[in-house]
Amino acid sequence: MAKGKVILAYSGGLDTSVAIKWLQEKYDLEVSALAIDLGQPGDLDTIKQKALDIGAKESYVIDAKEEFAKDFIVPALKANALYEGQYPLATALARPLIAKHLVEVAKKSNADFVAHGSTGKGNDQVRFEVSVASLDPSIKIIAPIREWSMTRDEAMQYAEKHGIPVPTTKKSPYSIDENLWGRSCECGVLENPWEEPPEDVYDWTKSSLEASDKPEYVEISFVEGEAVGLNEKQMDRVSLIETLNDIGGKHGVGRIDMVENRLVGIKSREIYECPAATILIQAHKELEALTLERDLSHFKIPLELKYAELVYYGQWFSPLREALDSFFEKTQKKVAGKVRMKLHKGSSCVVGRESKESLYDVSLATYETADSFSHDSAKGFIELFGLPLKVWAKRQKKW
Ligand code: ARG
Repeated sequence: MAKGKVILAYSGGLDTSVAIKWLQEKYDLEVSALAIDLGQPGDLDTIKQKALDIGAKESYVIDAKEEFAKDFIVPALKANALYEGQYPLATALARPLIAKHLVEVAKKSNADFVAHGSTGKGNDQVRFEVSVASLDPSIKIIAPIREWSMTRDEAMQYAEKHGIPVPTTKKSPYSIDENLWGRSCECGVLENPWEEPPEDVYDWTKSSLEASDKPEYVEISFVEGEAVGLNEKQMDRVSLIETLNDIGGKHGVGRIDMVENRLVGIKSREIYECPAATILIQAHKELEALTLERDLSHFKIPLELKYAELVYYGQWFSPLREALDSFFEKTQKKVAGKVRMKLHKGSSCVVGRESKESLYDVSLATYETADSFSHDSAKGFIELFGLPLKVWAKRQKKW
């Protein structure tokens, strides 16, 4: 009789495959594997069977693409969430969703434990464990890879010894994570922040050299801050993101090369490919520029930064995130209309925007004869607006 049950977040890779056996051997637990489809490549049915072949008691596969888009990506888009102004948070948004399913399956199958395959140096361990604790503090968490301190060769030997299929192809020198919202790449030559990433780092995007010479235009429609259509065609959330990843990738859009601050204190060089996220956030910001009243628009910006930071830090299931989401939701009521983007050789540019809710008033903006702006009032406005500085300057007596 095993000493209990554990639900393991399973990717089908070497580490989590070894973890199935290791959890049985080391902790005498009955292991069930849980693989979640978030739009990453790989056949989930094969992965499901692989877990069973290795000795998992149960193997679950959940298609959570729509849930990921609806409950995680859409709120992040409304918040224009970019960690340190650049990273659209693909991995960071996925971890709380995986944690939620781990907890749900654990509860349903009366398991006391959940396990994840993160190492001890990254953000993901924090995100998994803080999320699980916020959802059910009674569940115990095991992090086999952090605990076992095996090298890759040792893990391969362990796998061979236990009849676990070992990868036959040469291991990529990079650590990669992918889902609908983007792809990340770390390690290998990228650890030298001065080194230009070799082309083999990229998988979703063409280099600007190889990208088509002809620009392509896309028109994205939004309702209440959410992207709902592409080129005049209504689309479901997942297809819209997938299509923009394809089109953007073809034009080399969405490559990000950055050094970021991990929560655990390490600076890390990251390469991201996120065509859809890049295009959608850019378009969404532009529609906000057209439809949000000025003070609201300015006030939202620091909250967006805070939101991105708390998502990155793994605090998804927090009252602060919920409160910020309510605020952002309220700001989005009038964010409707469409944005036209031009994609060309690695760049995406907004070239047009239109909205029934537009606050752009051409009679106020124009320099032509239709001008309705009160030039006379400008004089008095400046007088009073500048008054505090005038008073201050007089007191300094610097002239
Ligand atoms: N640096 C990014 C983040 O913390 C990506 C992490 C990717 N994870 C991975 N296991 N390769 O969100």
